[in-house]
Amino acid sequence: MEFDSLESWLKAGFEAAFPGNDFSDVKALPATDAKFGDFQCNDALAAAKKLHAPPRKIAEAVFAQLEASRPASVAKLELAGPGFLNITVSPDWIAARLASLAADAHLGVPQTGAGKKVVIDYSSPNAAKQMHIGHIRSTVIGNAIDRIFRSLGYDVIADNHLGDWGTQFGILIKGYRDCLTQEERDNLTVQNLEKCYVLSAAKAKEDESWKDACREELVKLQRGDADDVALWKRFIEISIAEFDRMYAKLGVKFDTYRGESFYNDMMPGVVEQLKKVGLAEPSEGALVVKFEAEKLPVAIVQKSDGGFNYTTSDIACVESRVKDYDPERIIYVTDDRQQLHFKQFFIICEKLGYTVKLVHVPFGLMSYGGKAISTREGNLIKLDDLLAEAVRRAYEIVKDRGGDEKLAEQIGFGAVKYADLSHDPGTAIDFDWDKALALEGNSGPYLQYAYARVCSLLDKAGNPDLSGTAFSCGEPAERQLALQLLQFGATVKRAAESYKPSALADYLFQTAQLYSSFYQRSPILKSEPAVRDARLRLCSLFGAVLSAGLHLLGIETPPRI
Ligand code: ARG
Repeated sequence: MEFDSLESWLKAGFEAAFPGNDFSDVKALPATDAKFGDFQCNDALAAAKKLHAPPRKIAEAVFAQLEASRPASVAKLELAGPGFLNITVSPDWIAARLASLAADAHLGVPQTGAGKKVVIDYSSPNAAKQMHIGHIRSTVIGNAIDRIFRSLGYDVIADNHLGDWGTQFGILIKGYRDCLTQEERDNLTVQNLEKCYVLSAAKAKEDESWKDACREELVKLQRGDADDVALWKRFIEISIAEFDRMYAKLGVKFDTYRGESFYNDMMPGVVEQLKKVGLAEPSEGALVVKFEAEKLPVAIVQKSDGGFNYTTSDIACVESRVKDYDPERIIYVTDDRQQLHFKQFFIICEKLGYTVKLVHVPFGLMSYGGKAISTREGNLIKLDDLLAEAVRRAYEIVKDRGGDEKLAEQIGFGAVKYADLSHDPGTAIDFDWDKALALEGNSGPYLQYAYARVCSLLDKAGNPDLSGTAFSCGEPAERQLALQLLQFGATVKRAAESYKPSALADYLFQTAQLYSSFYQRSPILKSEPAVRDARLRLCSLFGAVLSAGLHLLGIETPPRI
């Protein structure tokens, strides 16, 4: 008897042994060790509680059913340990699955997101400042999550929630007028804005009247004073143009740039509603939300001077996103120092009755060469400088191979991105040039190089059309690689569900290692034509999966290095 998938056979086995129970979650997972077979099913252990029976007994009953209905595609079924079902599939089954993977435009990535909308809020730098190395993680991790969700068929709205409103604009406007030369004002750049901010903020600290003047500009801006609003707009435009220059280098695109200012007019309404439902209460002249049950500190939603803050603006932002897009979830990628903020405003949104799933993906800080990056230490590396350094170093590597500036960019930026994405987002990381750019080991260039090698192998073979060639997976190394390629779609799905692009990076590295042992053990071009073609087709599928996977991490795959 044949089944359309291993899972449907397993499910039928469980249902036949224990009728009337729900086994829709039953899964065939890749075996943890090839010596146990190709796949394992652990669901007898999972069902023990529900069925009030020892897992081994359950597995025995299911085993009997499965054995009786075992399709030809399953070469061996074994019962092991406390109740594992170990499955060895037939080479024909693997070859048939590979053929459908190769024919699938999505390379096995399930379109589970079709018809679903998500908003991903990432990068989100503060205006009037240059992006520094601290911004790289939100940009790179956020963009990988963005690409991964799109690959699953989700309708993604990538939103850059710029920090484009707040007290700093009073300081900036005053600084612009009184700390810059006419020439600097005429050729305004983000560098000049940063400079005038630093000068003006320093003056405000020592001079009360300067401080008052800054506050006055802020009030004027908030009131809609035409001159101040025009200046503010100019600051934002210049900032966005500068950010876009970085995004173009990094291959990052946003659908919207709705900064904090976009939600200004909604803030009073948010506070009114919080009062109405009894969530906000007065405290020392301000309005706060308390989290007694959750044992969290209070969140201020309106300051004693009447101003609103980050929490208020993020609640307004949820209201607006729900109204405009009606997404099934909103994902925020920021550093882990904002965890409390997200916890608090997620709780408030839930209490306000929002059903949209709100997810915070916090990442750890990045240090550089073992040193923490901080403005005070003066080692705040500008993103622009980091990227230039990446290209310079990559050029040193590729120039002897005839590589040009474009290739150096692809390798250099790939190295920087992969050094970040290969770590669990939640952990702090240390950026190290030698590790990032290593041609051996778990690095971006190693994977890009693996891809280029496959391309050159196919070139050497004359790039034959292999679409009619059957896959073969008789050799153990071939079989391991083939089974691994079949896991691409499930891995992408897992990376999305866990918000960890690192799950995909790990997979790609393992896949490249399996490819390399296959390549070493199984002669390709020297084999007789039928074997040669079958192996070439496996190489080509490996190349396709590796390239698709690297693109989901935002890493380009030049065919020649
Ligand atoms: N601008 C903030 C920062 O630089 C990040 C904003 C994240 N998004 C949000 N909706 N709060 O830290």
